[in-house]
Amino acid sequence: MPRKFIVGGNWKCNGDRPSINALVQALNTGESAIGSGVEVVVAPPMLYGDYARGLLRPDFGVAFQNCWTGGNGAFTGEVSANMIKDAGFDWVILGHSERRSLPEIMETDATVATKTAYALKAGLKVILCIGETLDARQSGKTDEVNARQLAAVAEKVSDWSNIVIAYEPVWAIGTGVVATPEQAQETHAQIRKWLAENLSPQVAQQMRIMYGGSANAANADSLAKQPDVDGFLVGGASLKPEFLKIAESWK
Ligand code: G3H
Repeated sequence: MPRKFIVGGNWKCNGDRPSINALVQALNTGESAIGSGVEVVVAPPMLYGDYARGLLRPDFGVAFQNCWTGGNGAFTGEVSANMIKDAGFDWVILGHSERRSLPEIMETDATVATKTAYALKAGLKVILCIGETLDARQSGKTDEVNARQLAAVAEKVSDWSNIVIAYEPVWAIGTGVVATPEQAQETHAQIRKWLAENLSPQVAQQMRIMYGGSANAANADSLAKQPDVDGFLVGGASLKPEFLKIAESWK
């Protein structure tokens, strides 16, 4: 079965009610153009999840940008995967490089893996972010970093059917420096090879691998043409109506 294209809009820690309202109205007007060949998921800041869901077209899913490592309990300030599921949402983004690398957060590979395993157990689908820093790319360690981040998850997860991988080179995130189609294809193919060798050929064949990092309406078409690019995880451009053009790039 062909892999269905998937485009996510990660709004990160941006917006307020008026701006979210305006963005959602703009997304809702593009209803007919996108077509049925793509799955679209937007990830508002946690507090606005319900608000956005109430306004948003029903064919778009809603994801959360993080969750706690386990279930409910005495974990002040946290939101569990069970709560996200109970509130009627299906997706969570885990392992984003901002959460892995910001000094205030510093999530480890093991924490991302624990969260992934628990979120799946709670019935959520996971957009699992991986990717290398500029240093790692320049020293030829791109595949090694991606493999290490995937291996940590593989230690705790055996069923990967509700995971989508977002390959997001850290040097491309929010910089305006997008990976070339060749760079994206080469790395996505290596990720798929790792999945085939370490999980199974079937998991590799079925896994959707999104690209993230300065994707926009101008570069999405050429990236989307690559055989191993199955969608996008979009940051900055997901806060603008051009997000709809990126969602159309599957065509
Ligand atoms: O989650 C999205 C990525 O961090 C990409 O962000 O499109 O602003 O570079 P960006």
